[in-house]
Amino acid sequence: MMPYKLPIIFCLCGCLVQIHPFEWEDLDPMKHIQSTGWYKKIQNLMSAVFGNKYQIPKGKGSYSVGCTDLMFDFTAKGSLLRLYYPSKDGEPESTLWIPNKEYFVGLTNFLGMHRVMGKFLALYYGSVTTPASWNAPLRIGEQYPLVIFSHGLGAFRTIYSAIGVELASHGFIVAAVEHRDQSASATFYFKDEFAVKADNKSWLPYKRLGPQNVEYLLRNGQVLQRAEECSKALNLILDINGGKTVKNVLDSTFDLNQLKDTIDKNKIAVMGHSFGGATVIQSLSEDDRFRCGIALDAWMIPLSEELYCRVPQPLFFINSERFQTAENILRMKKFYLPDKERKMITIKGSVHQNFPDFTFVTGRILAYMFSLKGDIDSNLAIDLSNKASLAFLQKHLGLQRNFNQWDPLIEGEDINLIRDSNAASITYLSEYLE
Ligand SMILES: *[C@@H]1O[C@H](CO)[C@@H](O)[C@H](O)[C@H]1NC(C)=O
Repeated sequence: MMPYKLPIIFCLCGCLVQIHPFEWEDLDPMKHIQSTGWYKKIQNLMSAVFGNKYQIPKGKGSYSVGCTDLMFDFTAKGSLLRLYYPSKDGEPESTLWIPNKEYFVGLTNFLGMHRVMGKFLALYYGSVTTPASWNAPLRIGEQYPLVIFSHGLGAFRTIYSAIGVELASHGFIVAAVEHRDQSASATFYFKDEFAVKADNKSWLPYKRLGPQNVEYLLRNGQVLQRAEECSKALNLILDINGGKTVKNVLDSTFDLNQLKDTIDKNKIAVMGHSFGGATVIQSLSEDDRFRCGIALDAWMIPLSEELYCRVPQPLFFINSERFQTAENILRMKKFYLPDKERKMITIKGSVHQNFPDFTFVTGRILAYMFSLKGDIDSNLAIDLSNKASLAFLQKHLGLQRNFNQWDPLIEGEDINLIRDSNAASITYLSEYLE
C-alpha cells in the first residue's frame, strides 16, 4: 500500500530536472547507468541538489553485499526474484534500484494517476542505486541461512533493499520474490523462447479491486498464489544449491553455479511486508521448510480464519504505529495459541511506508506530508526492525552469531519500541474481546 498523493511529490521533484526524450535499456543496469549520458547528468544533478543525504542505507554487517536478478522459467508460472548475498570484497557498490521504466508506469497506475507521471518518476528515480555490487561474485567458504521475502500491494521485488542488503551484510542470502498475482505495480515474463531471445517482455499490470470483486475473495486468491510463489522460489534456490544447472532467463554475468552448496537447508525463514506479511503467514502454514516467519506491518484481510491454528512455526509481528487498527491487531492475536511462539512489537512514530525504500530517497518535509516517513528517523526505524529481525532469526534458526545482543528488541525493550501493539489499539481491543 502506497500513499495516494505520492506522485505529487514526484511531479514537484520532476520539475527540478530537465526533461530529455529517453530510451530505456535494461539488459545490464550497471552498464546502462555508466554509458547513458543524460542519466549521468540527472544523477549528478540529483547529488548536487541532495548531496549524500537521501540514500538507501548500506549494510552494517561485516559482509560485502552483492545483488543479482534471477528468472526461471520464462513464463508467468516461473520465478522472478532479486537475490542479495554476501559477496567478495572490493567490488563497487552500485545496483540500479528500479531497473525498468514499466515499474514507474505501474506505480502511477497503482496510485490511480495519469501515465505521464510514470515518466516523471522514471526521471527522478530511474538512476537511484542501492548499495550492493551488481552481479559481484558470491563470497564462498560458508553456508548461509536463507530468507524468502514477499513484497506488499503495489510494490515489487526491488524496493525493500534496505532490508535485503542489511540481512545479506550479516551473512544471509535473501531472495525477494516478485509476485505474479497482479498485486505488484508491474511485473514481467516472456511469452515464448523467441520473446526471450528478442528480450520482448510481456508486462503484467496491477489489478484493481473492481466493484464486482469481493475484497476477501480476490485477496485470498492472491495470497494463496503468493505463498505458492514463495515455495516455488525456495524450490528453485534449493535446486541450484543441490547442483542442478539452471539457465537464468535474464542475461546475467552472475554464475548461478556459485550457489551450489551455499545454503544451509535447515535455516530458512520467510519475511514480508503488508500483503507480504499475510503471505508470510500463509507460507508458514503451507510449507514447513520455513522454520519461522517475520511479518512487517502485516495486512491480515487476505487470510482465511482456518489458518489460525495451522501455523506451528514461530512468528514475529513488527508493526508500525500508524497503520495498525484494532481489527487488524485482533486478527494477529488469533494466531496466539498457548504452545506457539508469537512476538509483537510496534515501532514508535513509524508509518506503513517505513519498511520499503521510498522512505530513504525522498526529502523529509514532503515525505512527512505524504506519510513516507513517520516522526521517527527512517534509518533508526529500519535499524530497529532489522536488528529485532536478526535476533529473532538467530533464536529460531539456531544461528551461532552475535545477533542475540538485540534480544531485548524482540521484547519491545527500547525507548523507540512498544511491547506488543500501541496503547490506543489495546483499549479498543479490550472492547472487542469483551
Ligand atoms: C513482442 O511480442 C508481441 C506478442 O507477445 C508481438 O505482438 C510483438 O510483435 C513482439 N515484438 C517484437 C519486437 O518482436
